[in-house]
Amino acid sequence: MSHSRRRFLKTTAVAVAGASLFDFNELMAAPPLVRLDVGPLTAGSPALKSYAKAITAMQALPTTNPLSWAYQAAIHGTTLSGSHPAWNTCQHGTPYFWSWHRMYLYWFERIIRKMSNDPTFALPYWNYEASTERYLPVPFRDAASSLYTSHRGAGWNAGTSFLSSSAVATSGFMPVIPYFTAQGNCEGTPHGAVHVSIGGWMGSVPTAAQDPIFYLHHANIDRWWNLWLKQGGGRSNPLSDAAWKTTKFLFFDENGAQQWMTGCDVLRAALQLNYTYQGEGTQVNQYCLKVLPWWVFEKEWLIEWPPIKLPPGPDPGPIEINVREQRKRLLTVANDANTDVTLELEGVEADKQPSVFWEVYVGLPKGKAPSSESAHYVGNIALFGHGVRDEHQHGGFKPAEFSFKVDRALQNALAQDESGKLDLTFVARGAETKGGTRELVRNDANLSVGKARLAARRLKKT
Ligand code: C2O
Repeated sequence: MSHSRRRFLKTTAVAVAGASLFDFNELMAAPPLVRLDVGPLTAGSPALKSYAKAITAMQALPTTNPLSWAYQAAIHGTTLSGSHPAWNTCQHGTPYFWSWHRMYLYWFERIIRKMSNDPTFALPYWNYEASTERYLPVPFRDAASSLYTSHRGAGWNAGTSFLSSSAVATSGFMPVIPYFTAQGNCEGTPHGAVHVSIGGWMGSVPTAAQDPIFYLHHANIDRWWNLWLKQGGGRSNPLSDAAWKTTKFLFFDENGAQQWMTGCDVLRAALQLNYTYQGEGTQVNQYCLKVLPWWVFEKEWLIEWPPIKLPPGPDPGPIEINVREQRKRLLTVANDANTDVTLELEGVEADKQPSVFWEVYVGLPKGKAPSSESAHYVGNIALFGHGVRDEHQHGGFKPAEFSFKVDRALQNALAQDESGKLDLTFVARGAETKGGTRELVRNDANLSVGKARLAARRLKKT
């Protein structure tokens, strides 16, 4: 940014009553630090060296010190008893999933900078969408490093387990326009699907942030927030949602002092928080004072499956309904370019944290092996914290919801099948292992889906 532009910003922002600390950061900021793709990094790369050094220093501090590794992880979630400021405050299945985790990483990164004594440190991101980065990054598998933990699912530290392509798919949220739907779908996949695939500490909310890879996973989720927004086409942060903009969350800075933060403080990563991601290009800058048009959906319900229960054990067969009467209407909406047909799953809940995610298929032909490459694959049910009835759940229980675009699956199903039946199929998945065999994951959780319906949705600007 040029000097004159920065001065101009200074004049305007100072005139704004109630401008926050982060608006002022924006004026003073040095060039943003770059969060690097971890793929090409080695244990000797400065970012990973500093990260490992800080972790060691933080692990040596007592749990009650806000800069300790245990305290930082406990801000996300913990099984430790006792209560300390900001413990157990992570946001899952709420409007604040993307924003809270951005705030969390921001303060965490500042603490790493201090504890590593490396003022240039920026958290790398785990770019697992790249087919070359599906395995756990090598430096995290070295038992002698503080980046390592043994609390990971089978095969991860050995370098034999990897993320399946459906676990890291971004196709479930990138095309979605309304903020909260896109955020919710991203929270499921890749976010939740990656958590449960790695398992161990990462597989459960109260332990996840103890694994050093957690923060690289979340840097990637945070990067996708930017990339989602950058697509334009009506995508916007929820600038007309007062609660989203003003709800305050507590963190600690590198001096152990309490800091509160709101959604308005984290809209512009480079300008307010001083970081960008390698390869992301120009960021979209949104401002709380300037409210953009908000998009809503007009929804028409089409068909509904009976309530679904998936007990632990082998996948149940397809759940079918007869759509003979609705067939014509379904074909019309599936072929209408201005209308999206979506599978809306509501009241999705598990009685405990599942150790798998479920791929969802619409109209999969009988006897055909499910593959996430097929036209019938529409998305995943991946629960991580949200939708899980668990004794450690903080902030009250709420079932999860998912919304998957199914136009293509529906077109295919209706074209292939004259019987008038439409199947919904669920396939449990975990990590994959080398050699193509699927990791057999033990899942003890019961999953239920209260409502599974198809809707036709048309976009409308308010
Ligand atoms: Cu708050 Cu990935 O979890």
